[in-house]
Amino acid sequence: MRSCDTLIRNANVVDGSGAAPASMDVAINGDQICELGPSLSYAASAIIDAQGLALAPGFIDVHTHDDTAVIHDPVMLPKLSQGVTTVIVGNCGISAAPVQLRGEPPDPMNLLGNADAFRYPTFAAYVAAIQEVIPAVNVGALVGHTALRNNHMDRLDRTATEGEMIAMRRQLKEALDGGALGLSTGLAYLSANAASTEEVLALAELLASAGAVYTTHMRSETEAILDAMQEAFEVGRLSRVPVIISHLKCAGIANWGRSSEVLQFLDTARASQPAGCDCYPYAAGSSTLDLRQVDERVKITITWSTSHPEVAGQTLEQIAAVWNLTQLEAAKRLQPAGAIYHSISEEDMRRILQHPATMIGSDGLPNDPRPHPRLWGTFPRVLGRYSREEKMLSLPEAVHKMTGMPAQRFGLAKRGLIRQGYYADLVLFDPDQIIDTATFSDPVSPSKGIARIWVNGVLSYTDQGATGKRNGRFLSRGKTTWIQ
Ligand code: ZN
Ligand code: CU
Repeated sequence: MRSCDTLIRNANVVDGSGAAPASMDVAINGDQICELGPSLSYAASAIIDAQGLALAPGFIDVHTHDDTAVIHDPVMLPKLSQGVTTVIVGNCGISAAPVQLRGEPPDPMNLLGNADAFRYPTFAAYVAAIQEVIPAVNVGALVGHTALRNNHMDRLDRTATEGEMIAMRRQLKEALDGGALGLSTGLAYLSANAASTEEVLALAELLASAGAVYTTHMRSETEAILDAMQEAFEVGRLSRVPVIISHLKCAGIANWGRSSEVLQFLDTARASQPAGCDCYPYAAGSSTLDLRQVDERVKITITWSTSHPEVAGQTLEQIAAVWNLTQLEAAKRLQPAGAIYHSISEEDMRRILQHPATMIGSDGLPNDPRPHPRLWGTFPRVLGRYSREEKMLSLPEAVHKMTGMPAQRFGLAKRGLIRQGYYADLVLFDPDQIIDTATFSDPVSPSKGIARIWVNGVLSYTDQGATGKRNGRFLSRGKTTWIQ
């Protein structure tokens, strides 16, 4: 009889392609799936009877800010406990590498940590750090536009000069040669808002020949969202690269109800160029505290404040009342700070989540002491609440949005599907039980319903928690494929 390391019997295989589930056995040898079929005979060191539970490719969190977390907290429980086996870092224009600071990191790079967390002057140094620490999950990395601006500009409230663009291009090229998945921007933030479209284009130009992607936290997610989408699509068209709109949403009360219009605009673009988006399954966003987003009608919870750490967990309304100030004045006094904004309509979020071009990305903030629950809950929430309970997506569709689709779009070779010869990143879960438990009041809480997780063939998590074996890798860019 042939032998393998692990044989999973009687699994209901949801293979990541969107196809209907099928009952199968899956054999793992080394870091790969060596065979799958209705009834396999192998001598295996570990034989698991899945008893009809769902077996899916490990989930790929396409939108994370886990850049430094994967190194300082390599167990990666917030993600691993959800079934996530790969995180893509470097989103929203901010990446841990390549970065050279002069003092404290500019907003919102401070979401990734204080100055001492930025230890990677080159992309290669970051890759080496991942390879040395071996986190529990695989890591793919984008290069942040704001990080490049920080490295080469003395101030961030203007567009880059010719000379600065040359320096940024050189550094981006070096990172792409080192396996970076693409470029991200965070044009809404004041640290990048003054950058012209031409500045972005000068960088995006380098992506096409590398087969890399462009992801963007757009210049606006409020009233001017269509202009911002237009800018993103133009960057994609002129530089001939796929565009991924980060955490697509209609933010701000004045913007509620516009999701159909926004998705229509996305579909029009998709007819002539590769474009898509990611989304988290919550009607609230989170980032640093932005004075431009303070609106007395919107509930804003302060998650941290360097000047007033004692108010973390309180709403801006409460704080302003105690201080006898307007919310805007209180927000100024709290700087620098982080916040959760309940500024999205549930109906818009649902429509975006359901759209066929939407991938799942948590946008979780691991350094936040009181994080938005998306950090711990995103993937089980999509599967449990929005697929099983609300029937908004079928199970294979929901799994496809978190596995096969992101692997193709970000060029993660031999990941995202259950196929012979693919890497054995697998999650075994109970589709009748899986659910998030993290809430806004109790956000640090692992989900329920995950039975076992393998990362590159190694059993890394069970219903008893992390196994203590970590086997994540740095994932270099492969070839991006877009089936519109
Ligand atoms: Zn963002
Ligand atoms: Cu983000």
